[in-house]
Amino acid sequence: MKFFVDTADTAEIKELAATGLLDGVTTNPSLIMKAGRPMKEVIAEICDLVDGPVSAEVVAMEKDAMLAEARELTAIANNICIKLPLTLEGLKACRVLSDQGTQTNVTLCFSANQALLAAKAGATFISPFIGRLDDIHIDGLDLISDIRQIYDNYMFETEILAASIRTANHVKDCALLGADVATIPPATLKALVKHPLTEKGLESFMADWAKTGQSII
Ligand code: E4P
Repeated sequence: MKFFVDTADTAEIKELAATGLLDGVTTNPSLIMKAGRPMKEVIAEICDLVDGPVSAEVVAMEKDAMLAEARELTAIANNICIKLPLTLEGLKACRVLSDQGTQTNVTLCFSANQALLAAKAGATFISPFIGRLDDIHIDGLDLISDIRQIYDNYMFETEILAASIRTANHVKDCALLGADVATIPPATLKALVKHPLTEKGLESFMADWAKTGQSII
């Protein structure tokens, strides 16, 4: 499973990139707003920090305007992935960009039929939003499972990018269901390494090691 980080905070991205665990980054207009910096500047900086796909979202509502924005964004770096909304206009733009060989991430997916359309439009990634479905008492994981089955039935190459992840359990469950990628907020990504028994065990090993009076180097 690939790990993307869901943030436009370059300090967080730098820290996580240094772990060697990061395969890409996703941003959206809300995350750019939080970063409080010009979009193109922040996206360029992120593209320098990671080799994998960096999702930059268009904000136009109509295909040709989306494509014009996509041209601006793809000029920033060669690892830009154009994020498009799951609307008919977004799907039309997705088809054009996919045919041109530009990576695409179709976002705001809340149903299996929407995911089917995105795959037919040649999307590189489909982003089902798990947390936002959970928020309205619909199990977001069922959507991941349905999309996995549909994509496997027809051998679609579109990758399932589980988004709107809120907990470490979401990451585990998405991995069990065969999502190709999870885009994870920085704090949740860092939390994946933690287990109280790891901390307790390490403490006790270190205490016993100190008693030996030895050193490895
Ligand atoms: C990622 O591509 C999405 O924009 C993001 O995961 C949305 O997460 P949220 O529902 O926590 O805002």
